[in-house]
Amino acid sequence: MSDDDGPFGGTEEYYAKHRPGYGDAALSYLRERFDLDGDTRVLDLGCGAGQIAVPLAAHVGEAVGMDPNEAMLRQAERRAEAAGRENLTWVIGSDADLSGELGGFGLATMGRSFHWMDERETLERLRGLLEPGGGVAILDDEEWFTRGTEGWQDAVYDLAAEYLDELPERTGPVDHSAEDPWDELVESVGFDDVEAATFAVEREWTVDAVVGYAFSLSYCSPDRFGEEKAAFESALRERLAQRPEETFPQRTEVTVISGRR
Ligand SMILES: C[S@@+](CC[C@H](N)C(=O)[O-])C[C@H]1O[C@@H](n2cnc3c(N)ncnc32)[C@H](O)[C@@H]1O
Repeated sequence: MSDDDGPFGGTEEYYAKHRPGYGDAALSYLRERFDLDGDTRVLDLGCGAGQIAVPLAAHVGEAVGMDPNEAMLRQAERRAEAAGRENLTWVIGSDADLSGELGGFGLATMGRSFHWMDERETLERLRGLLEPGGGVAILDDEEWFTRGTEGWQDAVYDLAAEYLDELPERTGPVDHSAEDPWDELVESVGFDDVEAATFAVEREWTVDAVVGYAFSLSYCSPDRFGEEKAAFESALRERLAQRPEETFPQRTEVTVISGRR
């Protein structure tokens, strides 16, 4: 981990393996809405381990994944290799590094990453990089560790709280758009035809996936646990083994807020 890796330093392998994608429905929606085809260039800002850039690359001419965390980009590269995709380019950089040197795009996506950025400034800069009619899309899903409602999720959180002092509160579902509506922000920057779409998603988590998801979170990273990482992991596995479920269900929604230049 280097100082530049930011809040996800040390999580990268877990992030790549255990953070789910957004599902076919959300990506098909973007493909249809913005007429993506072999001539389209897509920018995925805060691309992480490529959960959006790699599947989208199958439907466009070129996808550019940009992220300040170099180790995360290496994971994204591996995902692209495993998928046999060669039309991806990886750029180390953050929202502050958006510039005309990246070229023009037909779509810019940000998945689970927009809240880390200077939001208005980022939308303004992206607008400058988009071709007329091109889209900006902010994708998100429920972070179950603090916002889920399942009993098994309470158990994971409660155990982590025994080890870590600075966990964010487990609030259950929060409409984070209520105070700071991103669709209104997108519109106020000058994008037209703004839409907020939601897609129901059901997931089943195994014990390994639950453990890996916990270590993929910036505030629950292996570095935060330090020498107690192994102790936490074995206690978590034990606690999950004592539960009645064999796999752990999650019913959630993927949201896509998008607008057109
Ligand atoms: C939760 S991950 C999301 C990764 C991926 N987009 C996804 O949907 O799973 C957040 C990513 O945002 C990146 N990030 C953090 N601050 C950023 C910034 N200011 N500009 C761009 N990306 C940033 C992190 O390095 C991390 O890879």
